[in-house]
Amino acid sequence: MFDSGVGGLTVLAEVRKALPDAPVIYAADIAGLPYGTKTEAEVAARVCGLLGRMAERWHPRLICIACNTASTIALAMVRDVLEVPIVGTVPAIKPAAAITKTGVIGLLGTEATVRQGYVDRLASEFAAGKTLIRHGANGLVTLAEAKLRGEIVAPDALAAELDGLLRHPQAKDLDTLVLACTHFPLLELELSAAFGGRTAFVDGAAGIARRIAHLTKGQPFARPSPDRAVTTGDLVDFERLSPVLGQYGLEELEIF
Ligand code: DGL
Repeated sequence: MFDSGVGGLTVLAEVRKALPDAPVIYAADIAGLPYGTKTEAEVAARVCGLLGRMAERWHPRLICIACNTASTIALAMVRDVLEVPIVGTVPAIKPAAAITKTGVIGLLGTEATVRQGYVDRLASEFAAGKTLIRHGANGLVTLAEAKLRGEIVAPDALAAELDGLLRHPQAKDLDTLVLACTHFPLLELELSAAFGGRTAFVDGAAGIARRIAHLTKGQPFARPSPDRAVTTGDLVDFERLSPVLGQYGLEELEIF
């Protein structure tokens, strides 16, 4: 499972429920974090290069790109060059469109995700006739990373990230919000308070876990030793996450 940081843990939580015996290597490109402020070329180069090297080193039976930014930019490119099944994470616009009553949906992602053509295609295929308010909030990634390192999420900092969305002319009708960044469910309590508990949140994690279970159906799994988390960044910083990573069954921490 691959993400720029800790966001992919929200996908891993669902994968653990669906496939409790599946061994997982969790790879965080912390040297490249955040992806949301990068250009398409920068994200594509990192994701293709790193996943290529990781696939050669570990020979995974499946790769999950547990990151909306990486997936909406580079999923097709990675699939082109790696001979491994690859499951991506793309904004859950389809389920959001199915549950909205007002027809006004928010799309909260990184700035890089919300501008992708991939999102245009999902919107026209699944949310035609609805209003999709796109809002990039790169700073929420930093807040989620800090929260998992034990820091307090300052309500003002969170509010500043949401300001543009909450001031949109149609925001009062927004009843459904797509959490289109795997980091954002880590802030669900804080986001729920900011939206006054009136908005349904939708993300793709459970659907991704179902897809992985489907693609590996019938395959035997065994997890005889603790799973590993690797970082492209600094090991001392990564070790600050060890209590949280341990809760997801990731007990060995290494540098990639
Ligand atoms: N977790 C990633 C996502 O789903 C992005 C975080 C970042 O900006 O690096 O989009």
